[in-house]
Amino acid sequence: MIWTRKHLLDIESLSAEEINTVLDTARAFKSVGERSIKKVPALRGKTVVNLFIEPSTRTRISFELAEQRLTADIVNFSADASSFKKGETLKDTARNLEALNADFIVIRHSASGAAHFLSRVVKSSIINAGDGAHEHPTQALLDAFTIRERKGRVAGLNVTILGDILYSRVARSNIWALLKLGAKVTLCGPSTLVPETFALMGCRVTHDVADAIREADIIHLLRIQHERQRKSMFPGIGEYRQLFGLNQARLAMVRPDALIMHPGPINRGVEIESDIADGSRSLILEQVTNGLAVRMAVLYLLNGGKDFPEVSVG
Ligand code: CP
Repeated sequence: MIWTRKHLLDIESLSAEEINTVLDTARAFKSVGERSIKKVPALRGKTVVNLFIEPSTRTRISFELAEQRLTADIVNFSADASSFKKGETLKDTARNLEALNADFIVIRHSASGAAHFLSRVVKSSIINAGDGAHEHPTQALLDAFTIRERKGRVAGLNVTILGDILYSRVARSNIWALLKLGAKVTLCGPSTLVPETFALMGCRVTHDVADAIREADIIHLLRIQHERQRKSMFPGIGEYRQLFGLNQARLAMVRPDALIMHPGPINRGVEIESDIADGSRSLILEQVTNGLAVRMAVLYLLNGGKDFPEVSVG
């Protein structure tokens, strides 16, 4: 299948076929990362601006490395050292980047809709690296890639997402991706953070952890998104840990082949105990490794899928 999209703004608008094309392409790029020479010329002569207006470790570094491996010219934009501080708007900032012939703008922003907005005001290709509580499409793609690689499929699996769903862009993108690929999705957490309305997307909603994890093939944990919550959504961290944290007693209830995921950053001792985060069932660092191949695939496909003969998107 040929990818004809100019932007990657969300998972909601992608088809299952488009998602699978990214995952197949990422598999080819993962093998490039295992060679002694890890670079390919797919983005030679192209300029990519990493416009991160909100903090990031994994996504920012992963995009930067993906762009280097594809031989792009890279500009890393730091909001603190920019004219944002003097009141310049996002639109004007982006139009200045466009005037410098940026082919791609990778944007992380605290406002939901920021990536869609940029796609309407500049000619560059826009990649959403996380917009408010809306979507984080490359995170969902790397999560689906990791599940498919470890379990051999996504369709038919029971995937439980446990934590702060309401404020999580990772949850929204994962729900779209997992449902499109045929997984059964269960959401669990405090009722204030997992409202019943998520059932309208096609998920099962429960507030009972034992019920949520017992039959799960994948348990995807999310941290509490304090930076987006406008009021206290539960009594305290201690109570959250006691009622919803993944500890050894809860792990003893799950299937022997169930695997643990987390997009990071993790809050050890809150949503996940340290020994589980570092244990043999944890895919947390594998997710980070796979993020590089997935982001290479996304950039490559948005650039028309050229100059990397090992990958065929035709
Ligand atoms: N998973 C994720 O988006 O992490 P960062 O915020 O560090 O990029």
